[in-house]
Amino acid sequence: MTIVYPDIKPWGRSFKEYVRMFNLTPDDLERKILGCGDGPASFNAEFTERGGNIISVDPVYFFSADQIRQRIHETYNYIIDQTRKNQDKFIWQEIGSVEELGRIRMSAMEKFLKDFSEGVMQKRYIPGELPFLPFKDKEFDLALCSHLLFLYTDNLSLEFHLKSIEELCRVSNEVRVFPLQDVNADRSSYVEPVINFLRTKNQDVKEIKVAYEFQKGGNTMLRIC
Ligand SMILES: C[S@@+](CC[C@H](N)C(=O)[O-])C[C@H]1O[C@@H](n2cnc3c(N)ncnc32)[C@H](O)[C@@H]1O
Repeated sequence: MTIVYPDIKPWGRSFKEYVRMFNLTPDDLERKILGCGDGPASFNAEFTERGGNIISVDPVYFFSADQIRQRIHETYNYIIDQTRKNQDKFIWQEIGSVEELGRIRMSAMEKFLKDFSEGVMQKRYIPGELPFLPFKDKEFDLALCSHLLFLYTDNLSLEFHLKSIEELCRVSNEVRVFPLQDVNADRSSYVEPVINFLRTKNQDVKEIKVAYEFQKGGNTMLRIC
């Protein structure tokens, strides 16, 4: 079967998953980090608890915690259902079943929801959206973008990808994007055009293997400096 997402879904991963998706080292975790499209991930909440310096930006932060909770509940069954019908596209090793996946994601999203109001007051959750971010040039050391660019190849154009990655490079000294696959676990047709475009802009671009693989074959990130 084919996975179809008519729009971009709020779905949240944990700090532990971010560390592995982006090969984050102890030195990386000392840097000023931007999480772009973090949505209801618990990365910001958990990293802040560990003393990290992190700002997340996402259009879902225009809404209240109750509205975001409502949206998560509206989309939860759809995502779980699509995943169940397409189990062959994933590696069920660390996460053993669709039910366990649901529990792990909900636990991360609950952590986010608990932290959201305080994080808004502390300006750790900033409403905004690519391709234009409300930040100064090189305000961050490292920008991370998980499960937005490339994943939503069917929803977002190549032009959007080029502008968005240029914008991430404007606000951060280094940018990492994961995964490079679309929702059906196929390599996004945008990866090579994006790499070629960035090289014409004299950016150093590398595809790097990471210690995380849930979508089959989805174990590399793009690192741009
Ligand atoms: C699938 S979720 C991924 C959440 C998180 N990064 C993770 O990996 O757990 C995609 C997120 O991208 C956000 N998003 C959608 N359009 C965006 C845009 N133009 N700029 C930034 N974020 C966007 C959505 O609101 C949603 O929270």
